[in-house]
Amino acid sequence: MPGRIRATYAVCVLALAFAYQDASSAQQPKTVADGVYSRDQAERGKKAYGVFCENCHAADLGGTNSGDSGAPPLRRDGFMAGSNANALFSKIAESMPFDAPGSLPKTDYLDILAYLFQENGFPAGSAPLPVDAAQLGAIRIIRVAP
Ligand code: HEC
Repeated sequence: MPGRIRATYAVCVLALAFAYQDASSAQQPKTVADGVYSRDQAERGKKAYGVFCENCHAADLGGTNSGDSGAPPLRRDGFMAGSNANALFSKIAESMPFDAPGSLPKTDYLDILAYLFQENGFPAGSAPLPVDAAQLGAIRIIRVAP
């Protein structure tokens, strides 16, 4: 092809390549179905859950609700669906354990969050949940696929 057209073509291809790269490196909305925590993280979370949460929410996460006392189940159909990982993280980190709110290190709360996602049927991925609130906020909680 003639030089000018070839040059124009090359510029277009480059522009497209950059546009693509830009889109993929920008923060994409995700859901909990996208492998947003690591298996190790959930494993640590399971241990912390056993120490700090199980008393009230039960070993199988089934909760201990009876009438108007007890704690709600943390594993159920549509658990927190429509919310996002940062909102759930904040709820846990600011108000749990119910008898000692905010008493755990942030990383323990994140590990427990990973465990809750695992137990609610969402897959592990290669990286742990991030500490960053904006990144957590970009992870939508959906109903697990039947
Ligand atoms: C002393 C008992 C107790 C302990 C320990 C406890 N919780 Fe709770 N939890 C409750 C009660 C009671 C509620 C309901 C009131 C509320 O939402 O604040 C609740 C609510 C929640 C909710 C909201 C659930 C919903 O459906 O709205 C989450 C999430 C949660 N707890 C997570 C945790 C985690 C994670 C831990 C461990 C770090 C923990 N809790 C430890 C008693 C407890």
